[in-house]
Amino acid sequence: MNPPRKLHIKSYGCQMNVYDAQRMVDTLAPEGFVETASVDDADLVILNTCHIREKASEKVYSELGRLRAVKDEAARHGRTMNIAVAGCVAQAEGEEIVRRAPVVDVVVGPQSYHHLPQLLAHAKRDGRALETEFPVEDKFVFLPPPKPEAIRARGISSFVTVQEGCDKFCTFCVVPYTRGAEVSRPVTKIIDDVERLADNGVREITLIGQNVNAYHGEGPDGRTWSLGALLYRLAEIPGIVRLRYSTSHPRDVEDTLIAAHRDVPALMPFVHLPVQSGSDRVLAAMNRKHTVSDYRRVIDRFRAVRQDIAFSSDFIVGFPGETEEDFLATLALVTQIGYAGAYSFKYSPRPGTPAADMREMVSAVEMDERLVRLQELIDSQQSAFNAATIGNTVDVLFERLARNPGQIVGRTAYLQPAHVMSSPDIIGQVLPVRIESLERYSLLGELARAPDARPAQAAFSEITLSEITPSEMTPSEMTTGA
Ligand code: 5AD
Ligand code: SF4
Repeated sequence: MNPPRKLHIKSYGCQMNVYDAQRMVDTLAPEGFVETASVDDADLVILNTCHIREKASEKVYSELGRLRAVKDEAARHGRTMNIAVAGCVAQAEGEEIVRRAPVVDVVVGPQSYHHLPQLLAHAKRDGRALETEFPVEDKFVFLPPPKPEAIRARGISSFVTVQEGCDKFCTFCVVPYTRGAEVSRPVTKIIDDVERLADNGVREITLIGQNVNAYHGEGPDGRTWSLGALLYRLAEIPGIVRLRYSTSHPRDVEDTLIAAHRDVPALMPFVHLPVQSGSDRVLAAMNRKHTVSDYRRVIDRFRAVRQDIAFSSDFIVGFPGETEEDFLATLALVTQIGYAGAYSFKYSPRPGTPAADMREMVSAVEMDERLVRLQELIDSQQSAFNAATIGNTVDVLFERLARNPGQIVGRTAYLQPAHVMSSPDIIGQVLPVRIESLERYSLLGELARAPDARPAQAAFSEITLSEITPSEMTPSEMTTGA
């Protein structure tokens, strides 16, 4: 048998890239690849890239510069290192990558990575391989399912892609171009995936899609199912104790989704619902297809069925033509809604999008200043939200060993990290925790009930993706689309 080949994946950007990176590992496992945490001894390095803002996509070229030295060093020791660029920069700038970075052997877009084994073989033969067409076939049909040991190693919370792409064409956004048109996976495939995950210890599923609540997959009854219908069905799968979904668009919130929040206890009362701006004028220029009052009404519909529901959002400051008055309207909306957290970004013109041609740029100084003001407001809301937990008893799903010895870390319904001193037996269980204090964004507390007596899950202490770039995977970068 050949010795295993080593694979290092560095993933940038959103949750879907994290998911895609895992599926790349699954695709390459039958080829004899195993993951390595170190780039130096890798036979294959994949950069799974993000194109959402300029800063994110620039990182690719600087990383490729560093990798050139590593590849040269490997060659000096008689080893071949292959370098692949995957993800949305590959899709948007494939030809340019080939031109600018001869160190790259394979360029593969987000819809084609099931072809990685063939592309590597092609590159070995011809020097290079590029695939950025949207293939006619559906990659999910060809992706091998993850092996049980891979699922177990990845922990008790898992992403599952249910929908990909976007037809909304917000004027600032590259997603419709890099991820393509909106496509939903069939219900039975998603059920199979979730059952396999649950059988191997997964307790929490986050359904992901760039516009996840536009989900309209073919159901087993031949009808089209909405996201709400899918959530009702997935909640029946034994072992699944928590369900989440991200990222939603305010226009696509159907009544079945609201009803699911009322009826399905496993569906967490925390919804990421980007609004981008609090000014109708800016929303129109962004082609968001909703007004501020439409957004408020959607929030009210959720709140009517679950008083404990909390929201997060995305905001862009400095969209072309945004005036101080528009910006004040955004601050007013944030004040009015009251978020548990939100991500805010400076507008970044993306080549090929309609907004990139808009002339009335907001100055860099103004953008910086607006970002600070908005983030201060959001931070104060988030701190107040977290502080309100102190003294309460809240349910925590325990995920893994914490860095501090003896501590186990999990998450509340609102994704707040919560730490307790305990044995690792509690990993995989939802237990009530009395929250005693707050350290930055983390809650500290004590178990309010003895854990269930049952065998421990694997003691997950590490995430297993070779590398998730720390700066990219702060919560501020975890959102995708919508
Ligand atoms: N400039 C700044 N932020 C952007 N986003 C998307 N495109 C841009 C852009 N061109 C933000 C939006 C979106 C989040 C994923 O990224 O807020 O919801
Ligand atoms: Fe689609 Fe969201 Fe991008 Fe708008 S911001 S085009 S809804 S992915």
